[in-house]
Amino acid sequence: MTEKDFLPKAYSVLPAEAKVTWKAPSNIALVKYWGKHPNQIPANPSISFTLDACSTTTSVSFTKRDSKDTDFSFDLTFEGKSKEDFKPKVNTFLNRIDRYLPFLKEYHFNIETSNSFPHSSGIASSASSMAALALCFMDIERQLNPKMSNDFFNMKASFLARLGSGSACRSIEGDLVTWGEHGGLTESSNLYGIKYPLEVHPIFKKYHDTIMLVHKGQKQVSSTVGHNLMKGHPYAKQRFQQAHQNLDRLRSILAQGDVEDFIEVVESEALTLHAMMMTSTPYFILMKPDTLEIINKIWHFRKETKTPICFTLDAGANVHVLYPESVKEKGNQFIQDELVAHCEKGHYICDRIGNGARKL
Ligand code: DP6
Repeated sequence: MTEKDFLPKAYSVLPAEAKVTWKAPSNIALVKYWGKHPNQIPANPSISFTLDACSTTTSVSFTKRDSKDTDFSFDLTFEGKSKEDFKPKVNTFLNRIDRYLPFLKEYHFNIETSNSFPHSSGIASSASSMAALALCFMDIERQLNPKMSNDFFNMKASFLARLGSGSACRSIEGDLVTWGEHGGLTESSNLYGIKYPLEVHPIFKKYHDTIMLVHKGQKQVSSTVGHNLMKGHPYAKQRFQQAHQNLDRLRSILAQGDVEDFIEVVESEALTLHAMMMTSTPYFILMKPDTLEIINKIWHFRKETKTPICFTLDAGANVHVLYPESVKEKGNQFIQDELVAHCEKGHYICDRIGNGARKL
């Protein structure tokens, strides 16, 4: 598929008004997307677990405008309140997707959105929110073109979501999604995420992700700034190569259910992401002392008890604690006894692998 395949043909009849609602999950990358080219093209391939509990629900009601205007027309509420500061991001998104959904300027949209997790939790909502919004717009397009296949629907929703936020393209389907061209995955694309097409051992079908909220509040580095730090970064080339190699390694790890090697790849990816930030110009440390305490406690517990529990990080201080269903009780107990004390106000979120977005 190329960008051209997502340009629609002329629509015949536009509905006067309707309302659609979608719930899209967040995702956690195992091999990280960090660094991009223009038009939201990733510098390296990535793969993620789709989550279940952390999600955004978005409703879009639309009414036909009297005449097509040059500007977009929309109102936006977040958790019931008007949110002017979210509007520029949505406007940028609409500008980027306009040519792929030429009906956008024909309508006035009322966008109502809410998250399942507190906005101030330090959990990035851009993936789930851009995915939910893209799905709502795709739903409208499907009403204009009812013959559209499900595969195309998901592919284009992912394509559009990517234009809102790169990682959002991995929040359409479950349970493992890969985005970015990779030699070992012939169907992979830089333009959209695909459901991981190769064999996955049952152990990786039910995985827990307990998110330790070490530091709530605004991110110190926005992802746009972060990705830009990879331009001219002294280790960029090696890092992008490493992501390809790690995805290669994951192929056999996922097929064979090799949890030990899985842990090595996933933890190394998390630390590399932060190492890239620490060695860029300007440089940042996004981990907090409690982030390191949690990591050390995980390592100690794993060594002492041989429990296959590991961590990953996103671009912040929170720690995602990953473990298979088979050690659920042990993992939960350890988190309660040892890790919760390192969370801000003792807050954490119990999440797990999910099946992707759904229409409500
Ligand atoms: C560290 O998808 O938030 O979470 O494309 O600029 O919106 P933009 O970036 P974004 O970057 C996510 C980076 C990451 C790693 C990952 O999810 O792969």
